[in-house]
Amino acid sequence: MAIDEREAAAVATGLFGPERADARLYEVLCTTRAIRRLRPDPIPDDVLERVLSAALCAPTGGNAQPWRVLVLQSEDRKAALAEHFAATWDEYSAPGKAAMQRLPADKRGRGERVMAAGDALARDFARTPVVLAWLHDPRLLANEGEIDVQPNFLFGGSLYPAIQNLLLACRAEGLGGVITTMIWRREDAVRRALGVPDPWRLHAITPIGYPARGGHGRISRKPIGRMVYRETWGEAWR
Ligand SMILES: Cc1cc2nc3c(=O)[nH]c(=O)nc-3n(C[C@H](O)[C@H](O)[C@H](O)COP(=O)(O)O)c2cc1C
Repeated sequence: MAIDEREAAAVATGLFGPERADARLYEVLCTTRAIRRLRPDPIPDDVLERVLSAALCAPTGGNAQPWRVLVLQSEDRKAALAEHFAATWDEYSAPGKAAMQRLPADKRGRGERVMAAGDALARDFARTPVVLAWLHDPRLLANEGEIDVQPNFLFGGSLYPAIQNLLLACRAEGLGGVITTMIWRREDAVRRALGVPDPWRLHAITPIGYPARGGHGRISRKPIGRMVYRETWGEAWR
């Protein structure tokens, strides 16, 4: 079903009053957004270790911790990925850009901003200070090692909490970043370029750095009544 733009709610930080002890936590949860324009300034090692440690604290199925992350900071390692990143972004974004051109100019605003930020990330990828390549061992994704059981439900479930923990920790450090997955289109080439052995699979790429522009802030999401049902399917929460 097409999503009515008018129903998309901006989750305002003002929803959570100062009387709430955890207002700051809510504010962070509700204003941490994808940051694609990053400054090239290096990230100090102690900061990097703190955000990576936060990733380790995330839950995984059966506490199996079936992931590893490759931290890429050197020019040549990032360059090995840059070409694949840009090519897959171009492939992925082309239909969206074409569809946007068919919209009236006044309806293109947000879409155009996201596409321009994606273009900038692809162009400046090798200058991003830190690129994280997340890898998983498919044998460990299911609690009982049965990788053929409902893989769609299992893939990602033990990684995205870790990536989100990392991004929230980045927020605490004044950093930003974005989960990206489109590079799966060139997974084998990327695994070869990075020297990742079997059976490890590439899961996501997360460039992180200090935001080049405004950084975190308002996000746009559907309202709670659209997303949450009370007791019965279709019965809006409110
Ligand atoms: C599983 C997943 C895959 C994503 N893949 C990409 C991607 O390949 N490229 C990209 O630029 N952003 C990617 N994103 C970021 C989303 O586009 C972004 O979080 C979403 O549009 C909301 O934007 P906001 O955080 O700015 O509100 C991905 C996010 C998730 C959770």
